Amino acid sequence: MSRKRVAVLISGRGSNMAALIEAARDKKYPAEIALVLSNRPDAGGLLVARAAGVATDVVDHVAFGKDRAAFEGALQAVLEKNHIDIVCLAGFMRLLTATFVRQWQNRLLNIHPALLPDFKGLDTHKRALEAGKKIHGATVHFVVPEMDSGPIIVQGAVAVEPGDSEEALAMRVLGVEHRIYPLALKLVAEDRVQVVEGRCLIDGVLVPDSSQSTPVGLT
Ligand code: GRF
Repeated sequence: MSRKRVAVLISGRGSNMAALIEAARDKKYPAEIALVLSNRPDAGGLLVARAAGVATDVVDHVAFGKDRAAFEGALQAVLEKNHIDIVCLAGFMRLLTATFVRQWQNRLLNIHPALLPDFKGLDTHKRALEAGKKIHGATVHFVVPEMDSGPIIVQGAVAVEPGDSEEALAMRVLGVEHRIYPLALKLVAEDRVQVVEGRCLIDGVLVPDSSQSTPVGLT
């Protein structure tokens, strides 16, 4: 089976991107990271990608002002030029319109630093601590037009320790992110993930979300 061509979209440091690049170094991994694309020319992850020998490109959203359609048209052109099969958002800090999202339906993944459906949006670790959560974690999901709401592919959990700071918790969750994103991409690239009525099935088995069961602790 030929490897799927993946673009990773970043805006910042790109540690999840680096985890995907590392996983894809194994020739048996079913996807290759063909492109790292940033909306910010100064994203640190671009340097990391180049050092790893991965092609990079930049579509600077600032140049498009408020014209989201033109920005996304430029993104789409770069993705098509590179014959991309799957797009992974990894700390990509632009909201994408329904038009773009639909073009990539079930081929557009995102990683979110919380156990969705809990804590959509920003400041997830702070909010998990304030809510007194005992378990926190991260989620890889397909992207749908509504933010942080798409079908869940993989979740990974960590215990919240007494006295945890936001930073300490974020670090532990990040460790989980670096494990579940390569796993989720592998499953999608192997065509083992199906979406039925807004829920993922892996090898025909329904993926539970953390509101229905306690996810498997990875650390
Ligand atoms: C991660 O916590 C990810 O879950 C969130 O943004 C952060 C990106 O970090 N979407 P990095 O750029 O991958 O290091």
